[in-house]
Amino acid sequence: MNMQDSYITVDGRTIGAPVMEMKNITLRFGGVVAIKDISFDIREGEIRAIIGPNGAGKSSMLNVINGFYHPQEGEVWFRGAKRKPMKPHQIAKQGLARTFQNIALFKGMSTLDNIMTGRLTHMKSNMVSQMAWWGKAQDEETANREVVEKIIDFLEIQTIRKTPVGRLPYGLQKRVELGRALAAEPKLLLLDEPMAGMNVEEKEDMSRFILDVNDEFGTTIALIEHDMGVVMDIADRVVVMDYGQKIGDGTPDEVRSNQAVIDAYLGVSHD
Ligand SMILES: Nc1ncnc2c1ncn2[C@@H]1O[C@H](COP(=O)(O)OP(=O)(O)OP(=O)(O)O)[C@@H](O)[C@H]1O
Ligand SMILES: [Mg+2]
Repeated sequence: MNMQDSYITVDGRTIGAPVMEMKNITLRFGGVVAIKDISFDIREGEIRAIIGPNGAGKSSMLNVINGFYHPQEGEVWFRGAKRKPMKPHQIAKQGLARTFQNIALFKGMSTLDNIMTGRLTHMKSNMVSQMAWWGKAQDEETANREVVEKIIDFLEIQTIRKTPVGRLPYGLQKRVELGRALAAEPKLLLLDEPMAGMNVEEKEDMSRFILDVNDEFGTTIALIEHDMGVVMDIADRVVVMDYGQKIGDGTPDEVRSNQAVIDAYLGVSHD
């Protein structure tokens, strides 16, 4: 990586060097080619959108970035080094956190407890050391609580802190799931359709929170989103996928005027 590569300016906003580089990634499930020879990068501090029609391979790509799927071909580079296959606990330690296309919360547990589960990777004390060093474990619990309380304030969900998440409206459940991902204090946050199924007002709220996370915590964000209006509003750069292939990559304006993208995606309704 040379110096010119360290920072680039996109629509007047300076974004950093690549943190994640996908190099010629191919992922197959039996005979299905979910991702076909795709390369792109995610740069420090940017909001990178991945868009494309249903079945394009977007969620699969997020799972490759996340280290959950291992591509048959290609390389994933993370912070300038080729990444080796990882175990789930190593993924979080590298500063990655995600939300899912289908909400994956503990429905019977409160908002607060769900967000606390996002701190698990930060809890060093195991049961034995908790018994032996009761004080230390309590300090850790207090520190974790502080992080979680800040997130609850940040996401403006104080009033539902005790509510079992299964009783919350869908839009708020999505917000709690974002809170749980934030509790891990990720450097790179992956969001799989954070606004799917939301009404206009809920989408505006979620867009604002995503922008604020990026702005206030400096978190790099990669998100999958179907709503083109949202993508145009919040993304710095966009990757477009169709049938497992990359058909566009650039600023929202560049992508919007790309004929292949218009043909494959923009004319197609996803509702
Ligand atoms: N675990 C899996 N096993 C087998 N096939 C899979 C698996 N996951 C995804 N696929 C297939 O890979 C292709 C891409 O799926 P993927 O879920 O990544 O698409 P997507 O772009 O996220 O779609 P959507 O917009 O519907 O969420 C599809 O043909 C899908 O059926
Ligand atoms: Mg998907």
